[in-house]
Amino acid sequence: MARLLVTGGAGFIGSNFVHHVIEHTNHDVIVLDKLTYAGNRASLADISEERLTFVQGDVADAGLVNELVTAVDAVVHYAAESHNDNSLHDPQPFLDTNLIGTYTLLEAVRKHGTRMHHISTDEVYGDLALDDPVRFSENTPYNPSSPYSSTKAGSDLLVRAWVRSFGVAATISNCSNNYGPYQHVEKFIPRQITNVLRGLRPRLYGEGRNVRDWIHADDHSSAVLAILENGRIGETYLIGADGEKDNKSVIETILTLMGQPADAYDHVSDRAGHDLRYAIDSTKLRNELNWRPVYQDFEQGLRATIEWYRNNEDWWSPAKDATEDFYAKVGQ
Ligand code: NAD
Ligand code: DAU
Repeated sequence: MARLLVTGGAGFIGSNFVHHVIEHTNHDVIVLDKLTYAGNRASLADISEERLTFVQGDVADAGLVNELVTAVDAVVHYAAESHNDNSLHDPQPFLDTNLIGTYTLLEAVRKHGTRMHHISTDEVYGDLALDDPVRFSENTPYNPSSPYSSTKAGSDLLVRAWVRSFGVAATISNCSNNYGPYQHVEKFIPRQITNVLRGLRPRLYGEGRNVRDWIHADDHSSAVLAILENGRIGETYLIGADGEKDNKSVIETILTLMGQPADAYDHVSDRAGHDLRYAIDSTKLRNELNWRPVYQDFEQGLRATIEWYRNNEDWWSPAKDATEDFYAKVGQ
């Protein structure tokens, strides 16, 4: 039995990971989360306080982080500003949290010799052509496009430098696009589902040819746990579930599953610098750690996700108006 510090544990993937850990292990968890607009304490409401301690605070607060790191056996670092569209309009918080926050945590784990796992994204590799047979691997050169992905790339490089220069016991994972419960309504899939539930039309950026490689958040969690427990220190692992889909077909599937005509959506202006395609080769993770995704059927996972949003309007409704006001202002 161990005690884990999970930063960003009230966000989408962090809260899914905390649920996964509570369900599948005996570990106790301390969550450190600033509760920005993206964090929601309610995402952890059903977990007993015997297993979970919640601390509201900033991952860039060195005093607090230092104190929490002394109380745990390992740290899993999810806390980040995570939305590309926000980073195009106000990059500063991305620098503060993604770079300074990661640096602050690295200094604390360095001081106390604590194991750390850093959560990152496939977006650090830039994008691929639609017909490129090669997918991202651990050897793909970094080539980020947005303020968000460049700060995530910077945070990965900090982790690598702290491993090499200071012997910090860290691993890194870069995962593709997640879907599932507890995802903020600003993101593509929940935005379209909650639009339909509200009687609004879904919104597709540009022509919608862009491809994302979808993985269920619970499969991301099982992969992170496998790396935390058995990954080799200093190594990077790519996480993906062979789930490539273009945005247009995802919107059409959502509409169909929700009983609407498949073409009942609007095209809106495209994202600046919009990455065309992400695709992950997760051979290393599968071969070394024997990891496999459980959610192999995207349509089935999407149906369950739609049901979750249908049944949890209290969870998402408070954020919906502000999110749509933002998109209306920027023409999306
Ligand atoms: P999210 O925006 O839903 O959650 C981020 C969480 O971090 C929120 O709870 C927020 O309150 C917290 N946070 C933000 N700034 C903080 C700070 N300074 N101190 C403490 N807490 C802070 O994001 P997400 O989609 O759950 O992503 C989590 C992590 O996973 C990020 O590092 C992201 O880069 C990575 N990732 C996300 C995806 C995806 O598809 N969403 C895919 C791969 C990797
Ligand atoms: O690849 C991993 C990344 O996936 C993570 O690192 C990010 O944190 C996460 O937000 C996600 O980034 P994307 O930019 O791919 O996700 P988003 O949900 O914002 O958009 C997915 C695709 O859908 C993208 O091509 C833009 C498009 N889109 C998005 C929205 C919100 C639309 O067409 N319409 C929309 O309304």
